[in-house]
Amino acid sequence: MQIFLGIIFSLGMLIPGKLSLKLPYDRHQVLHIVPETFQQVQHLQHLCSTLLLDLWKPLLPQDICVGEDLHIRVSAPLVKEVKDSLDRHMVSYKVLIPNVQELVDQSMPRERSSHRQVPEGYVYTEYHPMEEIYQWMIQIQKSYSELVTQHYLGKTVENREMYYLQISQPSHKTKKIVWMDCGIHAREWISPAFCQWFVKEILQNYKSDPKISRFLQNLDLYVLPVLNIDGYMYSWEKERLWRKNRSPHMNGGTCYGTDLNRNFNSSWGSVGVSHNCSSEVFCGSGPESEPETRAVAQFIEQKKSDILCYLTMHSYGQYILTPYGSTTEPPSNSEELMLVAKQAASALVGKYGTSYQVGPTSLILYSNSGSSRDWAHTIGIPFSYTFELRDKGTYGFLLPSNQIQPTCEETMLAVTAIIDYVDHKYFPDGAVMLTSGISLCLSLCLNVVLTWTAS
Ligand code: ARG
Ligand code: ZN
Repeated sequence: MQIFLGIIFSLGMLIPGKLSLKLPYDRHQVLHIVPETFQQVQHLQHLCSTLLLDLWKPLLPQDICVGEDLHIRVSAPLVKEVKDSLDRHMVSYKVLIPNVQELVDQSMPRERSSHRQVPEGYVYTEYHPMEEIYQWMIQIQKSYSELVTQHYLGKTVENREMYYLQISQPSHKTKKIVWMDCGIHAREWISPAFCQWFVKEILQNYKSDPKISRFLQNLDLYVLPVLNIDGYMYSWEKERLWRKNRSPHMNGGTCYGTDLNRNFNSSWGSVGVSHNCSSEVFCGSGPESEPETRAVAQFIEQKKSDILCYLTMHSYGQYILTPYGSTTEPPSNSEELMLVAKQAASALVGKYGTSYQVGPTSLILYSNSGSSRDWAHTIGIPFSYTFELRDKGTYGFLLPSNQIQPTCEETMLAVTAIIDYVDHKYFPDGAVMLTSGISLCLSLCLNVVLTWTAS
């Protein structure tokens, strides 16, 4: 009997995706609609608000526009009602995802074994639950102790520890910093997968890749693999499509979570947000009301004079977004920001043909306030970008794990293009010193040869 119970218990332990047993997204569908008239827009806004549908793109009913893509998740009991209503109003739609649960199951491996957690065996082409990412951080700093250190950043609402990895080559030179964070939004799993991929690529290639070895002489890389740890864990264990953190509101009652990318101190609470805690874009009770936001903001604030570049990874939509999201007023260095983003996008498209749109979010996507990217730029970090990774809506937040590798490979090219630009801009001498070193050596050799032939 005991053995039998033991077997059942350990089988249970092999299935962290408790979701797959409960099938909460069974026969949920994601619909794609492009409204053609203002009347259709109004009807769709009404439908989304009254039925509390989960808008994937855009995030708010008021941002639904004529001629623009609309992606909505409809729960199984509402699918028929919504489709009937669309038919009655002559709104044409396509079913983008016929059964959300199937995709959820695919991205969440049912069985996980511990041998995969060692760094040599770490599988970067799968999504990893938080416990494995914590282990991975420890392993990676052990295996590359000459380059990597792990540092405490703060605590989450649910009291979990936040750490970032610092990649820095020992040197006497004063260096500048590139910051990258992933996983602000819980359900955007490709984002933490990219942060891990990025660290791996840098560490595996810094000796052989001339670009990486050049910028590591001048720049330290700070990587926060999962900013919203509580939300990420919740998306693995309870609700795959959870977006926000897990702060309790309404006196610890019925309403959970703040959108951490609406919680930073830049035009906080003004546009593209909600002040209702049940909304997906609830901006919190004030700027930096959330401990995760505070931890990141305080750290960056204290290092800001050394940080040249702030990168924050999200999904989906294939955009490289520049500041600002809350005003159409361009930043003072907007031309250069655009130029560099375009270079990054063209490096990216060269790999697999994935095309990215580049520009200020208020012009190419939708307006929002309180984003980390806008905040980072306003405190003086000159190169501040949001990446919205694959795809454009076919799978949306449920990007299958077989796209992790190509997504990360192409994104790596874009990110290194940006870092390379920043490196050359602030450290032009590096290369000059190298060339002058070589020419000095050449002229010395030539001299020797000349003196020798002359004598
Ligand atoms: N990561 C973005 C956010 O949550 C996604 C929004 C852009 N894409 C979209 N499908 N709505 O703000
Ligand atoms: Zn996001």
